[in-house]
Amino acid sequence: MKTLRVGMVGLGLVSTSHWKGYASHEGAEVVALCDRDGERVRHFAERYAVGETYTDYDEMLDRAELDLVDIATPTFLHAPMAYRALERGIHVHCEKPFCRSVGEGKQLEQLARARNVQVLVGETYVFISAHRKARQLIEDGAIGAPRQIRQRHGDWLERVPARIDTGPSDRSWRLDGRASGGGRYPWIFDHAVHFFATAEYFALEDPIEQVFALRAEGVEGHAQGGARHDPYAEGGVDVPIITWQHASGRCQGIWTRSERLNGQYDYRRGFSTTISGEKGMIEVLGEGGAHLDWAGRPVHLILYRAGMPSETFRFDEGGDDVWDSEIAYYSRGHEGQIHHLIDSVLAGTAVRYGAAQGTQAVRCTLATIRSAEEGIPIGVGDIEDDFTAY
Ligand SMILES: NC(=O)c1ccc[n+]([C@@H]2O[C@H](COP(=O)([O-])OP(=O)(O)OC[C@H]3O[C@@H](n4cnc5c(N)ncnc54)[C@H](O)[C@@H]3O)[C@@H](O)[C@H]2O)c1
Repeated sequence: MKTLRVGMVGLGLVSTSHWKGYASHEGAEVVALCDRDGERVRHFAERYAVGETYTDYDEMLDRAELDLVDIATPTFLHAPMAYRALERGIHVHCEKPFCRSVGEGKQLEQLARARNVQVLVGETYVFISAHRKARQLIEDGAIGAPRQIRQRHGDWLERVPARIDTGPSDRSWRLDGRASGGGRYPWIFDHAVHFFATAEYFALEDPIEQVFALRAEGVEGHAQGGARHDPYAEGGVDVPIITWQHASGRCQGIWTRSERLNGQYDYRRGFSTTISGEKGMIEVLGEGGAHLDWAGRPVHLILYRAGMPSETFRFDEGGDDVWDSEIAYYSRGHEGQIHHLIDSVLAGTAVRYGAAQGTQAVRCTLATIRSAEEGIPIGVGDIEDDFTAY
């Protein structure tokens, strides 16, 4: 079996999870590391015994003879860094959000096709075991055709101490309108891509066509409950509710923010989704979740079916590395997506969350921000290629 030579750029919060994905697959080896912070790159290289280190990305691309590059830098760098790798015929694993405009995403998609290389967008929500099981049940017809998707975003509490390095202390790029890509809505831009990706995943790829988001004014600057590494503490506007319509016209969705960033109290932690179908319903736990209750028992997925006994599932994978959560997100989710990319590159098969999907999630997120600003529903297809939120 060929071993892919991997270079990683951006050694912050999410990079250790990526590292573990490469280190646990015999088809890849991380041979080069890059971070603009020389101390970070040196520490990372020592800890994981990687020979080549760089503080300049282009130098790494020119010298390290890579097959695959892993991009985990702040969002404004994703598209330019992915472009420079694809130009050289190097496969790309790029963190979400994939780009800051639809035009950027389309350009990357075309370039990858022209160079015949793969792009996997790091959309971890479609690689968590609980979500994959829910999708399998839906595909198998357990609830009939999905008709409504209801997502709830509760507090994510950080594990103390976290099991992995949670990144540099200055992560203020996340609050910057340009660097994050989100303008007045940096949190929404960074996270809503997950929610739209999950909705389309559970709707069996029925694309989201229209979005209507509600805006909350004068929101106080609550730090995200328990997540000490996250800098989201600024006040201002927020989007507490998003609703959407899928293209078939037969499935609709809603996402609600139910945690302290918006000054809410809600006892339940983590991201969870309820998918109602024609003949049944699934409730499933995602990132940061503690557990769902089933007759006093902690479970992670509940399948309800008309006229049949309910079934419950647990995914005991050792919990999360960052969140105080039973769902293995920063561990198994990221590992799963990286293994999938390595397998796809080696087999020459298409990845299941590529440039087109990553761009569509950004398109829906931009429609959300425009909807919040204008107070009207926005057609996702009406987002112009050059529209940005900053
Ligand atoms: N899929 C997920 O679950 C998940 C989780 C966390 C973060 N993310 C995404 O990953 C990306 C990175 O987020 P993070 O929280 O790890 O960021 P971070 O701020 O913790 O780390 C970013 C790193 O990039 C380095 N960097 C900045 N500019 C650079 C440059 N020009 N060249 C080389 N290195 C540079 C910084 O020094 C820092 O070490 C973001 O886009 C974020 O949305 C995804």
